[in-house]
Amino acid sequence: MLKKHLYINGKWQETPSYVTLNSPYTNDPIAEVAVAEPADVEAAIAAAVNARPVMRAMPAHQRASVLEKLCRLMEERRSEAAEMIALEAAKPIKAALAEVDRTIQTYKFAAEEAKRIHGETIPLDAAPGGEGRFGYTAKEPVGVVGAITPFNFPMNLVAHKVGPAIAAGNTVVLKPAEQTPLSAYFICELLEEAGLPAGVLNVVTGDGKLIGEQIVSDPRVNYISFTGSPRVGLQIRERAGLKRVTLELGSNSAVIIDKDADIGSIVARSIAGAFSYQGQVCISLQRIYVMEERYEEFVEKFLSSMQSLRVGNPLHEDTDVSALISQRDVERALSWIEEAKEQGAVVAAGGTAEGSILLPTVLLHVNPSAQVSCKEVFAPIVLINKVQSIDEAIAHVNDSLYGLQAGIYTSNVNTAMNAAEQLHVGGVMINDIPTFRVDHMPYGGVKQSGVGREGVKYAVEEMLETKLIIFNRN
Ligand code: SIN
Repeated sequence: MLKKHLYINGKWQETPSYVTLNSPYTNDPIAEVAVAEPADVEAAIAAAVNARPVMRAMPAHQRASVLEKLCRLMEERRSEAAEMIALEAAKPIKAALAEVDRTIQTYKFAAEEAKRIHGETIPLDAAPGGEGRFGYTAKEPVGVVGAITPFNFPMNLVAHKVGPAIAAGNTVVLKPAEQTPLSAYFICELLEEAGLPAGVLNVVTGDGKLIGEQIVSDPRVNYISFTGSPRVGLQIRERAGLKRVTLELGSNSAVIIDKDADIGSIVARSIAGAFSYQGQVCISLQRIYVMEERYEEFVEKFLSSMQSLRVGNPLHEDTDVSALISQRDVERALSWIEEAKEQGAVVAAGGTAEGSILLPTVLLHVNPSAQVSCKEVFAPIVLINKVQSIDEAIAHVNDSLYGLQAGIYTSNVNTAMNAAEQLHVGGVMINDIPTFRVDHMPYGGVKQSGVGREGVKYAVEEMLETKLIIFNRN
């Protein structure tokens, strides 16, 4: 069986204990994965600290060329990378291939951004007393980046932290999700081949909570980039002290459908947004609010179109929906469906599980206080509720602890612009679902959806310090 060691200071390091990684779909063992001891995490942080001068001295074109080479290597090993994601995350292979393609894009953007880092001149004479001075800012790497990544995009969300970190001249200690370590270790192999110096990227796996706490509280780690749950995000914020922190957290994303919308084309897009990777996406479409004039038509078309969804083995090319990441999540999702039913919701499709697969589920007339509405469901469950006005729909979307992205379909430009203004989220998609993301756009939320922005250029900015230099010519 595949055995994965820690990756510290450019070396594969054995540990006294290994944990078995099982497929979420078959539950069969797929690998033995190293369990890091506190001394290993300490060694990983020390390696990242020691590699800082190497990265600081590396010219931008060289950082870019390591990332470009990584892209070429990933293109060559595209199918292998996708199979790894499908196997460890139960992501249907079509979606896994799309993730690999996006990962390549993310590293390409990082290679480009590496060459665009620059400061600016400051007109000091704009203030009395500033005359005769010349000032400019320089951008410097923040130092050691602590990256903590989730299971749902095990390659691309690693890329969103490792790519910008290398572009900005930083070093990294990465703790990937316990459920999906293989994709992270795969990137180490490729970056080693691409010529990344030893110690720049270090990967530690094992007890996620302990490792995460050690990384976050170590004073030599200068910046934390975390994607995961609001609960853990808050703990990180509390522990991180004065470190800079970027948090990409959860959401219960929604779309609004106006009475003039072209229902036919929206339905296919909404089905993809709700059920892609079993809904285990932070911007998965969880809530749909449809104007009453078009409600029946929308529900009917949605239910009829979703019958073509194929449920099953993530490695099969025609599979659309597969297993949830754990049986515990299946149980949780089922109990949330039960709760919604008790509060008056109607199950129009799904609502049951076949082993580790929760069948794509549609709930109608859901009470806003039901967990499937007000919490992040992270499962293939979508609710479709009727609204009397766009203002009512906006109020429902905003009545949330979260605010990552939202969508509105309308052909009325005033309605669209008003919604863009009123929706309290990090990104508004006009005539699209909230699930839209390409990897260079700013991505992040308000309220419990997080702090800071990713999207390569924006992540690079967060991973740089601004230094001011002033020449006094008086
Ligand atoms: C996420 O789930 O946070 C990322 C979604 C995406 O990159 O499409």
